[in-house]
Amino acid sequence: MSDTNSLSKKTYYVTTPIYYPSGKLHIGHTYTTVAADALARFKRETGHEVVFLTGTDEHGQKIQASAIAQGLDPKTYVDGMVADIKKIWKSMEISYDIFIRTTDEHHKTAVQHIFQTLYDKGDIYKGEYKGWYCTPCESFWTETQLEEGHKCPDCHREAQLTSEEAYFFKLSKYQDRLIQYYEDHPEICLPASRKNEMLNNFLKPGLDDLCVSRTSFDWGIKVPFDEKHVIYVWLDALSNYITALGWGSQENPELYNKFWPADVHLMAKEIVRFHTIIWPIMLMAMDLPLPKKVFGHGWILFGEDKMSKSKGNIIYPEPFIQRYGIDALKYFLLREFTFGQDGNFTNTLFIQRYNSDLANDLGNLVSRTVAMIQQYNEGIIPQAEEKAPVDDELRNIAVEAAGKVEAAIDEMQFHEALEEIWKIVRRSNKYIDETTPWILAKEEAQKPRLNTVLNHLAESLRIVSLLIRPFMGHTAAEIQQQLGLAN
Ligand code: MSP
Repeated sequence: MSDTNSLSKKTYYVTTPIYYPSGKLHIGHTYTTVAADALARFKRETGHEVVFLTGTDEHGQKIQASAIAQGLDPKTYVDGMVADIKKIWKSMEISYDIFIRTTDEHHKTAVQHIFQTLYDKGDIYKGEYKGWYCTPCESFWTETQLEEGHKCPDCHREAQLTSEEAYFFKLSKYQDRLIQYYEDHPEICLPASRKNEMLNNFLKPGLDDLCVSRTSFDWGIKVPFDEKHVIYVWLDALSNYITALGWGSQENPELYNKFWPADVHLMAKEIVRFHTIIWPIMLMAMDLPLPKKVFGHGWILFGEDKMSKSKGNIIYPEPFIQRYGIDALKYFLLREFTFGQDGNFTNTLFIQRYNSDLANDLGNLVSRTVAMIQQYNEGIIPQAEEKAPVDDELRNIAVEAAGKVEAAIDEMQFHEALEEIWKIVRRSNKYIDETTPWILAKEEAQKPRLNTVLNHLAESLRIVSLLIRPFMGHTAAEIQQQLGLAN
């Protein structure tokens, strides 16, 4: 791991999407947040000052409809849902620094400020919206973008034809600048395949101006100069990444000055379009810097289909946490799936990973090492004495792992980071089989060699415990405690 002191002044700002509080969060939502949490913890451990932002996206037609369906006013409804969301993050020990709600007063003030600024600049103008709207996705579509039967191309549900007076945002004005920006800053949309998709499917064919206000419902932030309009929920939601830092509501927002632009916005692929087209253009129009990275990971599928409340094929985290603990769930999510690609969640895969990686590989290594140190050296980790080439093989893997883990994390390749750590674990188990400490223990003359073996095993586990700490805090602490290492 990097030297703490030399990095102490670096900042790191990581965000998750702000989730809709319109139902219980499921494994898919926890996936993004668990990844962001591991990243935030890793950055803190490597000497960065971190802001990890999450929150809830509380306005819009969909939320209003859910509230009505329950006979509640929207604010009462979202308050209850947000309390549940915070509970799940607490039970998973998610180390967020800021939880923003789009119903927070400071956020609303700032979003109105953004709308006003863009209007004053001439980038927002009044017109008439005629087209198709998908309420579950809160997305506008043109007739040609729809699938057969007027279905939303994202969620494949029926879109509604709407016609209303509305404000529009001149996305088209910024399209060439954004294409150039993509050329100069390829990390604005990762992985690269998604960047090409944005360029080829949206930017190069030409952007339509975006409808950014609605009049057919009122659960939203009002357009400051025309109160029968509420601001389009995506304009409202995307702004959270700067309003959470005090931009637009504070005189000289210290957090904004220190942490913006974000180091990475994490999300799944279906909302990359909003984050790599609309959001950068909003920022460009306000002369603000763009985020350094936007990373769209894949979907966790269940039965080959995207989990979703409306499809009813949902897996929730709670039963896994209760039965196997939060570390096991976090490990599985980040190790099993390649961050960036879709993956299928099955109970069998979970149990296989749990048994092979956690119980067999790591669990056995810890229990065998601790038992041998106990049995052969009265529970004290001995000094290394007599060396052999096999020691260096293990040592090299362990010593090189830190750099590889850091590089993988910087590329958002969490599965690779964990794989690097497990190379140490597996090599250590093999090392036990190769060095056969139980045979060494039979002869007093072999004690110097035995001491070296025990020392190397303890040292490997110490390194493993440090490297897994951002991913699995409890397991790390337990290993350190069993080895009698101070934290
Ligand atoms: N409110 C918007 C985001 C606004 S951000 C300015 C939204 N909310 S959501 O509640 O629908 O959350 C979507 C996000 O949840 C995805 O982008 C992803 O981060 C996560 N996931 C939800 N289901 C998922 C899977 N099945 N698989 C992987 N991630 C999933 O969109």
